[in-house]
Amino acid sequence: MKEDIEQQERASLLALERATETDSLKEVRLHYLGKNGVISLLSEKMKTLSKEERPILGRHLHQWRTTFSQALETKEKLLNQRADSMAFEDLDSSLPGTSFPQGGLHPLTLLTDRVVQIFRRLGFSLAEGPDIDDEWHCFDALNTPAHHPARQEQDTFYLPDGRLLRTHTSTVQIRAMEEAVPPLRIIAPGSAYRRDEVDATHLAQFTQMEVLCVGEEITLADLKGTAEYFLRELLGPQTECRFRPHFFPFTEPSFEIDIRSPIISRKWLELAGCGMVDPAVFQAVNQRRGDSAYDPEYISGFAFGFGLERLLMILAQIPDIRMLLENDLRLLKQFSGEF
Ligand code: PHE
Repeated sequence: MKEDIEQQERASLLALERATETDSLKEVRLHYLGKNGVISLLSEKMKTLSKEERPILGRHLHQWRTTFSQALETKEKLLNQRADSMAFEDLDSSLPGTSFPQGGLHPLTLLTDRVVQIFRRLGFSLAEGPDIDDEWHCFDALNTPAHHPARQEQDTFYLPDGRLLRTHTSTVQIRAMEEAVPPLRIIAPGSAYRRDEVDATHLAQFTQMEVLCVGEEITLADLKGTAEYFLRELLGPQTECRFRPHFFPFTEPSFEIDIRSPIISRKWLELAGCGMVDPAVFQAVNQRRGDSAYDPEYISGFAFGFGLERLLMILAQIPDIRMLLENDLRLLKQFSGEF
């Protein structure tokens, strides 16, 4: 029995030494230390020994089990460590990492945000209206008679039910006044639609910004002051503004605003339409509201509107409006911060 134990002990240490993989080490552990392993079976056999022999061999067996278990654990750690370092062997930590490109806002969105910020400082709040609207909001309420060319089928996208894609954001002027009493200061960015031939300066869908200020004693001086302040904030303090008489059915008097700035262009550039809200517009709103909240005897206001794509083209010197829709990253990346 003693020899048996000694032989098995040598064999166990040899097996431990030969195990070079974590898997084979597991087998060795099971073979010697498992429930039905060599050491358990030998302990079992001890019962058949004499009283004198039992404690001596028992001690021997115990010692073997302790040293073997320790050696096995040490080897296990070593093999695990080796497996870990092998997993990282091919890793070159000096290589550049994988970059995850961050998207950016479209330049038109950036410009819209800037414009809205400037008007917020002047106490204007954001207003909205639907892209699909009715003729009343788009034309009638805005003093635009049935025979006006803008109402022709070849100029406007009509739906079969008679509604239409709004031809300007001035519809939001009417919707805002229907909902709230003066004083009122709103700004409304949004899409406008026209049956225009698409070319370098026209799109069938484009973006407008509508501005409306209504209250007691609002005058042309307020319109000029507000428009000039806005344009100088946006385009720089050297910007000159020119108000050129024009015609819009819903404002009287009406103007077009031209700008000129040494850093943008030496030529005058046409930028916006504007004017004092026509009393006929107030009357249409009163009629719809069923009150006289917008009594033109006491209430006046100014409005202006401009195309954001056109403004962006001027600011960023983009030669073709279609480039804003092409999603060409070479162009868009140039605007990821400011313009
Ligand atoms: N709605 C006009 C247009 O689309 C612009 C405008 C807005 C003019 C407000 C006057 C007042 O051309």
